[in-house]
Amino acid sequence: MQANLLIRHIGQLVTCRPSTKPPLRGSELNHLEVFDDGAVACFAGRIVAVGKTTEVEKQIELVFDSVIFEAKGQVVTPGLVDCHTHPVFATTREDEFEMRNLGKSYMEIAEAGGGIRNSVRKLRETSKEKLFANATTYLDLMLAHGTTTVEAKSGYGLSTESEIKQLEVIQMLAESHSVDIVPTFLGAHEVPDEYRDNRAGYVGLLVDEMIPEIARRKLAVFSDVFCERGVFEIEDSEKIQSAAAAHGLKLKFHADEIVGIGGAELAARLGAISADHLEVISDVGIDALSQSNTIGVLLPGTVHFLDMKNRPPARRMIESGVALALATDFNPGSSATPSLQIIMNFAATMLKLTAAEIINCVTINSACAVLTHSEVGSIERGKQADMVVWNAENYRQMPYLYGINLVDKVFKKGRVVSHGSRAA
Ligand code: NIG
Ligand code: FE
Repeated sequence: MQANLLIRHIGQLVTCRPSTKPPLRGSELNHLEVFDDGAVACFAGRIVAVGKTTEVEKQIELVFDSVIFEAKGQVVTPGLVDCHTHPVFATTREDEFEMRNLGKSYMEIAEAGGGIRNSVRKLRETSKEKLFANATTYLDLMLAHGTTTVEAKSGYGLSTESEIKQLEVIQMLAESHSVDIVPTFLGAHEVPDEYRDNRAGYVGLLVDEMIPEIARRKLAVFSDVFCERGVFEIEDSEKIQSAAAAHGLKLKFHADEIVGIGGAELAARLGAISADHLEVISDVGIDALSQSNTIGVLLPGTVHFLDMKNRPPARRMIESGVALALATDFNPGSSATPSLQIIMNFAATMLKLTAAEIINCVTINSACAVLTHSEVGSIERGKQADMVVWNAENYRQMPYLYGINLVDKVFKKGRVVSHGSRAA
């Protein structure tokens, strides 16, 4: 079979190829297929052969102008999938970060008009060009840290016009950037200033105007809601998400982050693709997820950045059979890292996941959480040739070495698109 790209003599090739239908759960999550002295061959941006170098070389015929990379002593994994981010915003919020470190809570800052509403005021007065330029910088950083597919949420517009503006920026990024982008409508991120005394009016605007218009223009694959005490309660969230589902959007939830009001249960009941955060998920919530196809997306970067006392009970969730994924939650308020590498380290130290579980949670399972698993998330024949070459002696070093960029090269659709933090 023809190939025009061969990565060979890989120290450890980690395929994340699932042996059962993904997402992986329970003990399957701790299983990785690893080839020592492995190789991957690709043609026209797709993977055509995977295995031991000697075996792959027997199967392929390199065409004229092929490229060969030697990856001796390195690790190769699928490109990482960041399944929960908010990368389009006008400005960073380091002032609030400092206020929190000096004693104010995230919710106190939000109730005083800061937080998400602060970002909303700024996004509304910022041009699409400026938002696009800001987000491009962060997507470049994501790619440089090994992320090749990103879910990107709106939610800093909170009016029909500004939410559409933000989703159009996401569309422009999807068209221009090497990273693949899956768009999510998060109009239910917060109640905007002009509706503070009329929450029901804002829910009505979401249901009657914003969701139908966004679905009609095909600006989003998912609809998300911040289901939280004092933001969108269970009844509001159900109304909003039922309308979104009726318009063909798939569902995601910010659930059980600060006060446990049953967000995970609602997500499972409505057949959501994922329920994210889950720092304070209840036993009933864990049961509900384990008996559903809803993936639990854990965001330990937020636990770290907000210095939260509650951590998602990840081990208990795995033992109960919940399908888990990990993401950065990259945003200016609660998690300011665009790198999944530090999230891998936090998942080990805070959530007590093994290296194998962590790698599955940022590849095949996170691809399932954004419905791109038939194309990406594992190194297997027929899939897009999205791969990362890591400066690591073995995959267990990936969550272990932290605070540095371990990426040597990132391949997107069979082409080198980043050399990590080094100049190309
Ligand atoms: O996922 N929890 C709600 N939304 C974001 C924070 C957004 C912000 O503070 O700007 C989150 O943590
Ligand atoms: Fe978030």
